[in-house]
Amino acid sequence: MTSITKIFASVLSRIKPTEAERARLKALAESIISRINATGEAEGLNIKGELVGSSARGTWISGEHDLDIFIMFQPDVERKELEENGLYIARKIAGESQSFEERYAEHPYIHAIFDGFEVDLVPAFKVERASEIKSAVDRTPFHNIYVSSMIRGLEDEVLVLKQFLKGIGVYGSELKTQGFSGYLVELLIINYGSFIKVLEAACEWKSGITIDIEKHGTLVHKDPTVVVDPTDPARNVAAALSLDNMCVFIDRACEFLKDPDEAYFSAKLAEPLDDKSFNKILKARGTSLLAIEFAAPDLVDDVLFPQLYKVRESIHEMFERYDFHVYNKSVWAEKSALILFELESSKLPHARIHAGPQVWAKEHALAFKSKYTGSDTFSNVFIRDGRYMVEIPRKYDRAKTLVESEILNCALGKHLALSIKKEFHVLEDEEILSIKDNEFRKFLRNFFEK
Ligand code: CTP
Ligand code: MN
Repeated sequence: MTSITKIFASVLSRIKPTEAERARLKALAESIISRINATGEAEGLNIKGELVGSSARGTWISGEHDLDIFIMFQPDVERKELEENGLYIARKIAGESQSFEERYAEHPYIHAIFDGFEVDLVPAFKVERASEIKSAVDRTPFHNIYVSSMIRGLEDEVLVLKQFLKGIGVYGSELKTQGFSGYLVELLIINYGSFIKVLEAACEWKSGITIDIEKHGTLVHKDPTVVVDPTDPARNVAAALSLDNMCVFIDRACEFLKDPDEAYFSAKLAEPLDDKSFNKILKARGTSLLAIEFAAPDLVDDVLFPQLYKVRESIHEMFERYDFHVYNKSVWAEKSALILFELESSKLPHARIHAGPQVWAKEHALAFKSKYTGSDTFSNVFIRDGRYMVEIPRKYDRAKTLVESEILNCALGKHLALSIKKEFHVLEDEEILSIKDNEFRKFLRNFFEK
C-alpha cells in the first residue's frame, strides 16, 4: 500500500458513519418526515417532507449529526403563505424536540435538536426545474437528485476530501468562512473521479479555473473558481469560495502529494494567547494594534460577517487616506464585535508635507499659495521637484483619534452603523488584553501566527 492509500483508509475509518449511526439517522429522518406529512394532511395543506443535504446522499461525516429536512410546498403558493404555514408546521414538529429556535436565511426556518441530532426544518417550493426557483433553498432538492444519481460508489472519496478541507481550514460555504460547500466537494469528486485526482488537478489550478460537468457552457462568471451548477447553469456553485481559500487548497494539495501526512486531516487548534506572550510578540514586532469594539447586532453570521468585512475595508481605506499603513486586519464576533488592525505605527509626526500643484499650473498655483501663505504652517510655501509644497500640522497624528472622530463617516452599513453610533471603544495595544474571553485569545494567536 502506498502511504496515501494508508492515510486514506485511516482517515476514512475515523469519519465514516457506522451502520448503527446510519440506522439511527434514517429512523429519525423517517419519523420526522412522516410527522410533517401527517400534520400537513390534518391541516389540509398540500405539503411533503423531504430529506436533503449530505445526510440524504450518504456523504456526511460521522458525528456531525445534521439533518436537512425540507417542507415542500406547491409552487403556486404565495411566498407569505409558505413562510407562515411553513413555520407553523415546523414549530409544531419541533415542539417534540429537545430545544429549537427560529433562524433566518432568505426566509425563516426552524433549527431543532432531536435526540442529539441538529435538524433544520426548511420550508421550500417544489418547482419543476431548478431554473424556476422562487427562493434560493428551492435548488437543494435538485442538487439531491443530481448528486444521488452520480455519487454512488464515490461516497468515501467525498468524505475524505471534506475532511481534508476541514483539516486545512477551508470547509464551509458560510459567508464567514468563504470556503468549499458540501455540494461543491461532491461535484469535484464527480468531475475528477476520486480524492487523489481532485488533489492532482487542484495542484495545477489557476484563478479563473472553470469546471462545467454537464457542458452547459452558458455563462462566464468572474469568480476565482467557477463550477457551473449542473442543475442550474446560471449559478456558480463556488461563488462563495474566496481567492485565498482556493489558493490555500492549491498549496496544500501540492504539499500533500509531495509529502503525504495524516496531519493534514486534523484542524490545528490554537492555544489561547496569554498576556505575557502577547506583550512579547508586540514588542518584538514593533507594530501597533488597534481594536474597534462594539455590540454585535443580533444577526445570523451570513448577514453579520459580510457587513463586518465591509466595515473593515472601509476603515482600512480611511487609515491609508490618513497615512496610517495597515499590515494586518481581521474581525471577530461573539456578543461583542471587534475589528482588529495591525498598523505600521499608530502615531505619525505632527508635521506633514502637503504637495501642491506644479508651478506652471497658474490658477491652481495661485489658489494654493493664497490658501497657505500666512496660515498656521510649519514652513513657507516652497518649491520641490517642480511643485509647490508646504509643511502643515497633520489633522490626526494618532490612529485612535482618527477612528474616534471619523468612524461615522465610514461606510458602516445599516445594522452596524446603529450599533456603532450607540457606543464603541477603541482599544490600543495592551488595552486589548482587557478582553479575557478564551475564544478571543485563540483568535489573537491566529491573528499573529496565521
Ligand atoms: N446548499 C446550497 N448552497 C449553500 C448551502 C447549502 O445550495 N451555500 C444546499 C446544498 O444542496 C446542500 C444543502 O443545501 O447539500 C444542505 O446544506 P448543508 O447542510 O450546508 O451542506 P451539506 O451538503 O449537507 O454538507 P455537510 O456535510 O457539511 O452538512
Ligand atoms: Mn447538511
